Amino acid sequence: MTQPALRFLRSADLPGDDASGERLLPEEEAAHATFHEALAALDRATCAAELGTPDLAEPAQTRRRRWAADANQHREAALVRAGGEEAPVGAWMLHMPLLDNLELAEIEVLVPPRGAHPATGGPGDEEFDTVLHGAVLADARARARELGRPLHCVFAPQPLFSAAGLGPALAGSGERADAEAHGPSRRSPERLGPGPRYRLLTEAEAEAGELLPVASGTGSVPADDPQVRLMREAGFRAVQMERFSVMELAAVPAQLPPVPAGCDFVQWHGETPPEHRAQMADLRTVFSATQPLGGAAFTPAVWDEERVRRTDEGVRAAGIEAIVTALADREDGRLLGFTVFEHTAGVPLAHQEITVVRPEARGRGFATALKRANAAQLRRLRPEISAVCTWNAVENLPMLAVNRAAGFVPRAFTVVWEADGRE
Ligand SMILES: CC(C)(COP(=O)(O)OP(=O)(O)OC[C@H]1O[C@@H](n2cnc3c(N)ncnc32)[C@H](O)[C@@H]1OP(=O)(O)O)[C@@H](O)C(=O)NCCC(=O)NCCS
Repeated sequence: MTQPALRFLRSADLPGDDASGERLLPEEEAAHATFHEALAALDRATCAAELGTPDLAEPAQTRRRRWAADANQHREAALVRAGGEEAPVGAWMLHMPLLDNLELAEIEVLVPPRGAHPATGGPGDEEFDTVLHGAVLADARARARELGRPLHCVFAPQPLFSAAGLGPALAGSGERADAEAHGPSRRSPERLGPGPRYRLLTEAEAEAGELLPVASGTGSVPADDPQVRLMREAGFRAVQMERFSVMELAAVPAQLPPVPAGCDFVQWHGETPPEHRAQMADLRTVFSATQPLGGAAFTPAVWDEERVRRTDEGVRAAGIEAIVTALADREDGRLLGFTVFEHTAGVPLAHQEITVVRPEARGRGFATALKRANAAQLRRLRPEISAVCTWNAVENLPMLAVNRAAGFVPRAFTVVWEADGRE
């Protein structure tokens, strides 16, 4: 297939924006509002088609505010138009850390299936989507290099159609997703239902096709999957496989679980109370240093009180609320771990963010208690929220066990890809 004529509109080229890092997106600037509305519509269409969950997408207003208020990251995006069409057919987004990992650009490619475009609809065209995906990724990488970011990491929003080398325990509550349930095509509408959106390869299939182990050592991806082929041809390697899961809040208890012996729950919503900032900075540093990264070339972040304060400020300014439960040692008040959900007003889906327990306190059920207590807090404070979603590295067995116990149900597997263009 010949490549369609594509036109990229980059956020850096919008009037009033400053590509040098000012990150000003003035409220009154109509071009920015239109740009972000289009981005949000593509994000929703992609999330709906690939993960069955449109509310995973960030609302336009939240994203604009976050871009302006987040001191930790520089963000850019581009909309892509094809041929003479007015409605964008795809987009990329770049997230570039400003406090560490200064050579890294995290890339998201949004290419909803042809039939699922918010404005155009129309018949499906997988080949067009694949070509478009490759072109969008290439443009995002070119922009990242322009900005001095040669290390590229892609969080693929598309679930992998199939995976191998994962035991049934990883696949979900013992169930093995059935190929028949999903039909033969990645795009088939049967896969848009609420059930699991993955399948594990049968042994015969695994033996018949070429399998590529991911760098983390847990899981393999089939070489003939269209997305795997596309990413490898673009020079990426699969570094980690992640499991996407959703917890329906109606299915979990609304009461606090028993508090672990010798501890107290400490709960808040919104910004971190000043008296907890130093310990929260320490716990975030522990998280960054001990979460499994697979084979990714990511440098752990070091946090201090000021970074906690500025991060909280950015989250609040974006219209996002953090719902936090920590566990304190009753004797000395030391925080042993915490977990946080984030949500945006008007969106019925919350996001599970960090969970961490100090290494010396692990294996005593603290993380499970923290998640249950936070789910109860969320239900009490925000009864309009129906579900929480999360991604977890598939080699993080303790986290997967905790999530299963807390009520998360697996829906899909996704892959983290990396291309290291550093000298
Ligand atoms: C993941 C983490 C929060 C778990 O904290 P914790 O307080 O030790 O968790 P719990 O004690 O509540 O539960 C641990 C579960 O993992 C299980 N587990 C522990 N090690 C395991 C292993 N190697 N393989 C399989 N299961 C294991 C335990 O048996 C327990 O499950 P169970 O209740 O069914 O027996 C902690 O290990 C941590 O902070 N890790 C680093 C940060 C991180 O990875 N966060 C998550 C990123 S998404």
